[in-house]
Amino acid sequence: MIRVLFVCLGNICRSPMAEAVFRDLVKKSNLDEQIEVDSAGTSDWHIGKVPHEGTREILDKYQISFAGMQARQLQKEDADNFQYIIVMDDSNKENALEICEPSSDDEMILLTDFLKNRTDTYVPDPYFTGDFDYTYDLVLEGCEQLLQHIKQEQKL
Ligand code: 4NP
Repeated sequence: MIRVLFVCLGNICRSPMAEAVFRDLVKKSNLDEQIEVDSAGTSDWHIGKVPHEGTREILDKYQISFAGMQARQLQKEDADNFQYIIVMDDSNKENALEICEPSSDDEMILLTDFLKNRTDTYVPDPYFTGDFDYTYDLVLEGCEQLLQHIKQEQKL
């Protein structure tokens, strides 16, 4: 099983959005037997909470399920359990590296590194910007490219 973990600060806006979007893409590609998806936050601020209302609204708009999703904090063991840890910005990466130590540099990657025709270097936090649509656009495109990357790398 290939396991992919999305990480942000609170695990209520960006990483649950990416988790739901990526799981939807995986399912539509009939790869749900091969690829497992999860998300976590570097903080413990929202443990147990459902995704933020803005994230739920945008997922509803595109008919993407977030059933059963609840915020959790990143754990040290996550580095062993996930082959791909995808962060939303540099501060997520810094904070995540304090919690867990991936076996290689390639294991922890910015979602924006997968974007093709954009100059964005981080996924803006809609908790502060209020712009869930823009964040969704980046998340969708990043997830589409990430899936292509994994399919190629894992020969799926
Ligand atoms: P996220 O957004 O990291 O995309 O889930 C945030 C959610 C909550 C807070 C900050 C960012 N907060 O300060 O509570």
